[in-house]
Amino acid sequence: MEKFNIQMVDTRKQYLKIKHEIDSAIQAVIDSTQFIQGPAVKEFEKNAAEYLGCKHAIGCASGTDALQVSMMSLDIKPGDEVITTPFTFVATTETIALLGAKPVYADIDEKTYNIDPDKIKDKITSRTKAIIPVHLYGQPAEMDDIMAVARSYGLKVIEDAAQAFGAEYKGRKVCTFGEVSAISFYPSKNLGAFGDGGMITTNDDELADKIRMIISHGSRKKYYHEILGVNSRLDSIQAAVLNVKLKYLDEYCNSRIDAAEKYNRLLSDYLQVPYVLPYVKHIFHQYSVRVKDRDGLRKYLSDNGIPTMIYYPVPLHLQSAYRYDYKENDYPVSEMISKEIISLPMHTEMTDEQIEYICTKITEYISREI
Ligand SMILES: Cc1ncc(COP(=O)(O)O)c(C=O)c1O
Repeated sequence: MEKFNIQMVDTRKQYLKIKHEIDSAIQAVIDSTQFIQGPAVKEFEKNAAEYLGCKHAIGCASGTDALQVSMMSLDIKPGDEVITTPFTFVATTETIALLGAKPVYADIDEKTYNIDPDKIKDKITSRTKAIIPVHLYGQPAEMDDIMAVARSYGLKVIEDAAQAFGAEYKGRKVCTFGEVSAISFYPSKNLGAFGDGGMITTNDDELADKIRMIISHGSRKKYYHEILGVNSRLDSIQAAVLNVKLKYLDEYCNSRIDAAEKYNRLLSDYLQVPYVLPYVKHIFHQYSVRVKDRDGLRKYLSDNGIPTMIYYPVPLHLQSAYRYDYKENDYPVSEMISKEIISLPMHTEMTDEQIEYICTKITEYISREI
């Protein structure tokens, strides 16, 4: 099994293939010494906006900051409510709470694991200001339905596209539907930096201007602070890396899609493989399957040199930091999925042999159980 050297994500092998380009892009930033808001950042922002088909793409320090700044730009304040999914990474809820607003959840769809648009309406109150759909695992949320609810109630939409840079909904890239979108360039993401990084996108000129101020201490002109801000900039070295990798992003997403198809072929008779909406491009940031005896399978795979991860074991309404008035069974679909979901190794460098080996071990275990 050692010969397969299977990892959840293999960023090293990916780097080695474009080492020369990356190294010289980093060296160019060092030579320029323009580490903050240098030309590499401007260039990456321009290329990212062009790639996504949006008007403004503004770099910031992380996906978490991208969410917080997005909400600040929309004036989300203490006492407001923001509707989101309980089945996601904590950053979405954490940033709502940090602004003094309350995260209000709508349960997820049992097939896609994304927020169920039919459940959003019931959660809207006079305090609701915005909806944050998350494009979980790289599959776009049901944006037409979500935008329709938002429009009819006058709510803003912030897309959490941390896991979905490059994904498409009905032929259009995510990050172009909501008023604002938040992206993460955490190293394991489909477009991953060599450290933390994030981006906020919008088609609204005024919001873009405000977002640029917020990420820079609320100022347009140095030492003149017009609004409340933070320090959250994408640094030039990360932008230089991302600029190189952006050229390969479609290739990277396609490798993940190929790997997912191979997994599907070998596993669909044995367990619940990912359901993909027919009109989306799911870019498989994660390949997550459902299985009843998850702990047993995890142990068996681990004993055979195969890592797995649980994204996410505890839905956010049951996390002790964010309990509010939530209790068990409030969001039954999220609670059920969080007990059954398991993510398999997924990255751009997976070989057929690795996938076959992983699937053989999974089917071996499942067949043994029956
Ligand atoms: C859905 C989601 N939102 C937000 C974030 C936060 O991004 P970052 O780690 O860049 O702060 C992540 C990161 O994993 C994420 O998966």
